[in-house]
Amino acid sequence: MFEKKLADTICVSKSGDILNSPVKVGNVTINNRIVIQPMEGCDGTKSGAPDELTNRRYNRFAESGAGIIWFEAVAVEERGRSNPRQLWLTEENKDHYKRLIFDIKSRALSTTGVLPVLIMQATHSGRYSKPKGVPEPIIACNNPIIEMDKPLSPDRIITDDGIKRIEESYAEAVKLAEEVGFDGIDIKCCHGYLNNELLSAYTRKGEYGGSYENRTRFFRNCVNIAKSYTNSDFIITSRLNIYDHIPYPYGWGMNKEDVNPDLSEPLRLIEDINLDLLNITMGNPYYNPQVNRPVDMSAVKRMFELTKRVQDAFPEKKIILSAVTYLRENAGYYAAKAIEEGYCTMAGFGRMSIAYPKFAQDMLNGGLDSRKVCITCGKCTELMRCGSVTGCVIRDKYYTDLYKEVMTRCV
Ligand SMILES: Cc1cc2nc3c(=O)[nH]c(=O)nc-3n(C[C@H](O)[C@H](O)[C@H](O)COP(=O)(O)O)c2cc1C
Repeated sequence: MFEKKLADTICVSKSGDILNSPVKVGNVTINNRIVIQPMEGCDGTKSGAPDELTNRRYNRFAESGAGIIWFEAVAVEERGRSNPRQLWLTEENKDHYKRLIFDIKSRALSTTGVLPVLIMQATHSGRYSKPKGVPEPIIACNNPIIEMDKPLSPDRIITDDGIKRIEESYAEAVKLAEEVGFDGIDIKCCHGYLNNELLSAYTRKGEYGGSYENRTRFFRNCVNIAKSYTNSDFIITSRLNIYDHIPYPYGWGMNKEDVNPDLSEPLRLIEDINLDLLNITMGNPYYNPQVNRPVDMSAVKRMFELTKRVQDAFPEKKIILSAVTYLRENAGYYAAKAIEEGYCTMAGFGRMSIAYPKFAQDMLNGGLDSRKVCITCGKCTELMRCGSVTGCVIRDKYYTDLYKEVMTRCV
């Protein structure tokens, strides 16, 4: 049925016109329905500022014409960086961010006439922290499904006081994000990082584990901190996992009997945090990348259908659909149809944006060029996992050359 609907899309939504209509989030108008999803380049400076390749990427995104540019994961503290080049916004480097944001906005206006909304994704990498290039995991609780035969030492489990200290880091990050000119902040709660992992900390003792109230406490506190430290026009949002695809009691949004979703807690949480804009996602790119970064139709279908359950439950909220890139040159038509049919309010593009930075303009003006689209080969992820800076190996010569070099030393 759904496949048929998707197939119909190509015929029915020929114009994709709905993508070109504005959306309001609070007092902020977003010019169109296309979102550039957060895409980490692992190319900041040692101190966490954007570097040459970061600036290059965002200046390209500025020319895309997308209504939202969702800035990649930016660490709230050094220990929570996923790699030594992950962005990390601080008092010392904030001027670099101010400059980049000014450049993005002015370039976007002069080249496309569209002023994009810029959201900063605030993160703590938790289990996947590697601030010095080697794993230094900070975990909510042990997870035998992920750790398998190499259980992490219990001293890797963060204490309740440690979590409270990170809440303070979020407060600093939120204030800085608004100061440097972002239009909003994403309290990132997805893909297995600390905030997401706490949601399924059923086996954890203390204030942040066990019951629904405890497991969601850190996330709710961070959202409330963001609300209390910013002006009313500043957007507070979250990129939120609604389903981890990791068996209960080690995954969130899980049916207790099998690996099917049970969205009752995720929907309850969405009600509780009361945010107007949400970027819905699922899975864990380290454990089940096929869920998070689809390379087949079944994963795309899962993402569409579960996102629709959120949009159906909260018709007034602005819900962003993830993982549309696999649909290649037809992605815009599918996205338009998904919006028309009430699956979501906006559509997000991750890998497509680095392969084809002007995709949004082309999508809005007649369609994508099949010679420029992402082919979901996974080489951008491979580069990242080898500890390199990353980008599109197929469509961007800089990374084509780099890939050959990195692969000779990364076995
Ligand atoms: C190289 C790479 C970097 C990514 N970085 C982030 C990130 O910083 N934050 C995030 O929430 N998701 C990140 N993602 C996930 C994407 O935002 C997106 O959810 C995923 O690629 C699926 O969407 P797509 O099919 O449009 O690519 C990354 C994905 C890739 C491949």
